[in-house]
Amino acid sequence: MSTVAGYLAENRPRHLDQLSELLRIPSVSTDPGRREDVARAAAWLKARLREAGCTSAEIHPTEGHPVVYGEWLSAPGRPTILVYGHYDVQPADPLELWTSPPFEPSIRDGRIYARGATDDKGQLSIHVNALEAHLRTSGRCPVNVKFLIEGEEEIGSPHLTPFIEANRKRLSCDAVVVSDTAIFSKKVPSICHGLRGLAYFQVDVRGTDHDLHSGSFGGAVINPAFALAQMLAALKDARGKVKVPGFYDRVRKLTPAERKSFASLPHSDARFKKEIGAPELHGEAGFTTLERLWARPTIEINGIWGGFTGEGAKTVIPAEAHAKISCRLVPNQTPAEIGRKVEAYLRKLAPKAVRVKVKNLHGGPAWLAETGHPALQAAGRAVERAFGKRPVFTREGGSIPVIASFTRLLGVPSVLLGVGLQDDNAHAPDEKLDLDLFFRGNEAAAYLMEEMGSRA
Ligand code: BES
Ligand code: MN
Ligand code: MN
Repeated sequence: MSTVAGYLAENRPRHLDQLSELLRIPSVSTDPGRREDVARAAAWLKARLREAGCTSAEIHPTEGHPVVYGEWLSAPGRPTILVYGHYDVQPADPLELWTSPPFEPSIRDGRIYARGATDDKGQLSIHVNALEAHLRTSGRCPVNVKFLIEGEEEIGSPHLTPFIEANRKRLSCDAVVVSDTAIFSKKVPSICHGLRGLAYFQVDVRGTDHDLHSGSFGGAVINPAFALAQMLAALKDARGKVKVPGFYDRVRKLTPAERKSFASLPHSDARFKKEIGAPELHGEAGFTTLERLWARPTIEINGIWGGFTGEGAKTVIPAEAHAKISCRLVPNQTPAEIGRKVEAYLRKLAPKAVRVKVKNLHGGPAWLAETGHPALQAAGRAVERAFGKRPVFTREGGSIPVIASFTRLLGVPSVLLGVGLQDDNAHAPDEKLDLDLFFRGNEAAAYLMEEMGSRA
C-alpha cells in the first residue's frame, strides 16, 4: 500500500486533468449569461466529491447560484473540518490581454493558466485530492471532512450566510479550512491569519433630466461629472489619509510587536514596485507597504463613468455620472458603520445642484486570528512537512467576507492554507497557478488532515 504522498505523486497527471476539466467551465457568477455554466461547475464538483470518496454530495439551490455540499464522516471521535471554497470565477475580460484563452487551460513553464486557476478552483481542489489520497491509501481519513463550496463568492456571497444559518447543525465542525489566499513567496511558505474586510458602494450623481448641449447650457448648470470628481477627490488627502469623518475611530492600532513581525519578513519595496510596473509606491504616510496592505484601511475608486467616452469629441453636459467605490476594512471597523459614514460624507460634499444616490453593494468585516491557536499550529506543521520549511504567519489585504460569518455562526477558528502566489494574476488576464505549489498543496492539505486528526 502506498503512502499518501506516494499516492498524490502517482496521481499528479489525473489531478491536473481534473483541474483542467473544471477550469474549462466558464462559471462567471456575475454574468447572467453564464448561469448554466455556473450550474455545470456545481454539478461537476458534486460528481468529483463523490468520486473522491465523499459518502454524500449534494447540490443545494439558492436564490442565486447553488451551494455544493459533500461529506465523509466515518471517523467517529475524530475532529471534523469544514472545507470552504468557491467554484465561481471573475469575468475574464479584457480577453485580448490573455496569452491563451481564459477557459482553455494551458500549461506553460510549470504553471497552469486559466481563469480560476488560483482563485479558487485550483486551490479548493487540493482538499478534494487530499481526502481522496487518504481514502484510497488506507480506506480512512484521520478527520471527518465536510465540503462547502459556493458559487457566489466573487459577487459577495449574498446567499451563503442564510445557508449557513439554516444549516448550522449540518455544518458543525471543529475548524474551517480554506485555500483561497497566497503564500508570501515560493521560498517563504506562510499561513495567513488575517484578512481585510470590505464595504462596497455605487454612487450615482444626477444633475438634469437629460444630457444638454454644452454650448447652450454650459456655465449655467452643474456638470454632475465635475461634481462627482470633486466629491471623490475629497475622500482622501495627498498623504493617503481617508478624510471621511470618523473613518479611523475604531481602527485597531498596530502594536510594536506586529510592526516588528511585519518588518522581519523579506519584503522588498524595490522588487514590489518592479513586479507591478509602478514608477513609485504610494500610500498612507507613516506606514510601510506591508502595514498599508495588511493592517490599514483604505478607500478606493474602482470605476468611474459618465458622459461621452467614445472616439472623438462630443460637446455635451452629461445628465449623470457614476462611480464604484470601496473601502478595505481592518479590525474593529464594521461595514455598516463605515457605510453610514461614507454616505453621510458624500451627501455633505455634494453641491445642492445635484441629487446623490449611494447604494451599498456588499461587504464584510475584517478577520484576524490568534496564531497560537492549535488549528493554526497544526496548519503550520502541515505546511512545514509539505514545503520542508517552517512557514511564517502573514496577513492579506484581500477579503473573504464569509470567514467572519463562520467565526460568528459556527464559533470555530478558520485556517487559511493558501498555495497561490501574489503574482498569480487573480482577477486579471493570464491568471495562473504554479503546478509545484498545486502538488505541494495537495500534500499540505493531506498532512493538515493528519495533524488535525492527531489532536483528537
Ligand atoms: N480569493 C480572494 C480573496 C483574496 C484576495 C485573498 C487577495 C487574498 C488576497 C477572493 O476570491 C476575492 O476576490 N474576494 C473579493 C471580495 C469579494 C466580496 C468580491 C476581494 O477581496 O475583492
Ligand atoms: Mn477567491
Ligand atoms: Mn476572487
